[in-house]
Amino acid sequence: MKIGWIGLGHMGLPMATNLYKAGYDVKVWNRSLGKAIESGLPYVESLEDLLEDRDVIITMLFDSSSVEEVYQKIINSGKSIKGKVFIDMTTIYPETAKRIAEMLIKEGAEFLEAPVIGSVIPAEKGLLTIVVSGDKEIFERYYDIFSVLGKQIFYLGDYGMASTMKLVNNTVLGNFLSSLCEALVLAEKSGISRKMALSVLANGAGKSMILDAKMEKLLNEDYQTHFSVNLIHKDLSYAVDLAQEVKVPIVITSTSHQLYNGARAYNLGDLDFSAVLEVYKKLSNLS
Ligand SMILES: NC(=O)c1ccc[n+]([C@@H]2O[C@H](COP(=O)([O-])OP(=O)(O)OC[C@H]3O[C@@H](n4cnc5c(N)ncnc54)[C@H](OP(=O)(O)O)[C@@H]3O)[C@@H](O)[C@H]2O)c1
Repeated sequence: MKIGWIGLGHMGLPMATNLYKAGYDVKVWNRSLGKAIESGLPYVESLEDLLEDRDVIITMLFDSSSVEEVYQKIINSGKSIKGKVFIDMTTIYPETAKRIAEMLIKEGAEFLEAPVIGSVIPAEKGLLTIVVSGDKEIFERYYDIFSVLGKQIFYLGDYGMASTMKLVNNTVLGNFLSSLCEALVLAEKSGISRKMALSVLANGAGKSMILDAKMEKLLNEDYQTHFSVNLIHKDLSYAVDLAQEVKVPIVITSTSHQLYNGARAYNLGDLDFSAVLEVYKKLSNLS
């Protein structure tokens, strides 16, 4: 099986690397070619070159519009994509996933929508959780690829469902982290050190994988990006849109969404989303 990988960002690079290390024949392409050259993986210089001889093409891009742009380029490339399988692992809006599936199937290709849960470290260790939508037979045929990238793999059924589940998950993620930062600033302004507050929360109401993953970052204000403010803001924007569609007042998520928007206003968009702590510090006049 010849795999083509598109998108070598924080997640795409370790995921493609894991497939390569597992013995798959992988070639990568990235819009900024430098990342492909530096990846140490076999690469091609153009999207058309990737389409030429790859059977399975996996995309890990930024958002709905980047995914639509790349798939539109694939369709307009003039290369036949009949019989090829495309797997998109980006977090996108559910309707976008449905549109892309329709577009590809019309051209005789197959499509799986497979967003992932877990950040850079689980991606490096092949420990992601993956939610998949699309034809069940195709999902089962390509299960081995998913099992290299992740350990918990869920089949969600029709197109749109996996992306919906991913957005639902990220409401909890975004809300949890903003709530945690609020608690830390409340503790600190009341005279409890951040270290003590984190230690107690990690054994109290804050005990979770998210706190485990972010503990050191929050303690040291190390906002080196694993999952950026821009990405959580994007995901919560989609969640708010989805909630409008299905008429659910997602009150808490809307507030968190605005806090991450505030982080963007302070030019923290490219940093790790734990930088929302800085928004609370500013709001509370905590230096
Ligand atoms: N980071 C995490 O912890 C995490 C966890 C779970 C899920 N996710 C989701 O996974 C996806 C990737 O996240 P990430 O952190 O890897 O993002 P990232 O570091 O920002 O990487 C984005 C990738 O998309 C490419 N790209 C963006 N727009 C493009 C376009 N118009 N055409 C072609 N390529 C384009 C970028 O290429 P360039 O290099 O040229 O910019 C880069 O390779 C996102 O949907 C995110 O929500 C992320």
